[in-house]
Amino acid sequence: MSKNIDWSNLGFGYMETDKRFVSNFKDGAWDEGGLIDDPTVTMSECACVLQYAQTVFEGLKAYTTEDGKIVCFRPDLNASRLADSARRLEMPVFPEDKFVEAIVKTVEANIDYVPPYGSGATLYIRPYMYGKNAVIGVKPADEYEFRVFCTPVGPYFKGGAKPITIRVCDFDRAAPHGTGHIKAGLNYAMSLHAIVDAHNEGYDENMYLDAATRTKVEETGGANFIFITKDGKLVTPKSESILPSITRRSLMVVAEKYLGLEVEHREVYFDELKDFAECGLCGTAAVISPVGKIVDHGKEICFPSGMDEMGPITKKLYDTLTGIQMGRIEAPEGWIKVIKE
Ligand code: PLP
Ligand code: COI
Repeated sequence: MSKNIDWSNLGFGYMETDKRFVSNFKDGAWDEGGLIDDPTVTMSECACVLQYAQTVFEGLKAYTTEDGKIVCFRPDLNASRLADSARRLEMPVFPEDKFVEAIVKTVEANIDYVPPYGSGATLYIRPYMYGKNAVIGVKPADEYEFRVFCTPVGPYFKGGAKPITIRVCDFDRAAPHGTGHIKAGLNYAMSLHAIVDAHNEGYDENMYLDAATRTKVEETGGANFIFITKDGKLVTPKSESILPSITRRSLMVVAEKYLGLEVEHREVYFDELKDFAECGLCGTAAVISPVGKIVDHGKEICFPSGMDEMGPITKKLYDTLTGIQMGRIEAPEGWIKVIKE
């Protein structure tokens, strides 16, 4: 029985659900792992994650489809990205097939928390792993915990599909040859001051520029950018220091194969932005959130699509992507993992 939750009024927050999947790495090997009830974690006061932030994570969603199945979207890509993140922080890789199994088990065990079709909410799934044993000299842990919990969520930005306003941020997110391309907690710790400051100034998010030259668009704290040119091309920034968004990679396919749009994945200079017709943020949490205005130290760039609704091409991309995720549109081979028929 579906839980008695006011699905349509959920924000993007944490709600404790019944079960979580846990596996531990010790003496050089992962254990079998399994579902547990305890939503808390106990560990050494000197755990590597607490002292040196040795933690990496993922985010994906489960959806109820139009015909009542429960599915998730491209979990194999989350598995391989978590493996890349782990290697970069000298952590053991959680086997990619076991990762997908853990997602399935966690969703199955919390099936009553999967929001119904058409409610506007989804089940957000958060896999993560961290160095757990005591470490005081700077070195990797040798014991790790991998965990998956889930929580029903609504839109990441209040107002859902209403265009947001972002500012150009004076702080940098990621250095060249740094860790911007992995999903590590440390990249989000450094963004906390910037996001609080942005909110205090009345902006919804930060646009980070490349740290070396501050001339190129990178991403926001939690999403990649997409832009639409006046002649209807999709342009999206290429950089070694941004997260390879699964949503963005999927949208590139959707644009080309479903909508017949030309796609340019390339460096995007800040100076070009004034010439684009539409702008959006894309990610698991953000889905596609339209951006109406970008403010660069008082200088405004207002996209022709305006502040009232999504631009027309952004809307087509949104409808097609969510149509694929919710089973209204046939997905490319391998994109949809069915959890419950
Ligand atoms: N960029 C950052 C910094 C993120 O945290 C996220 C969220 O996962 C994304 C981009 C979007 O990635 P994805 O589409 O894989 O969720
Ligand atoms: C996601 O989209 O899954 C993320 O991890 C972004 C985060 C800012 C919530």
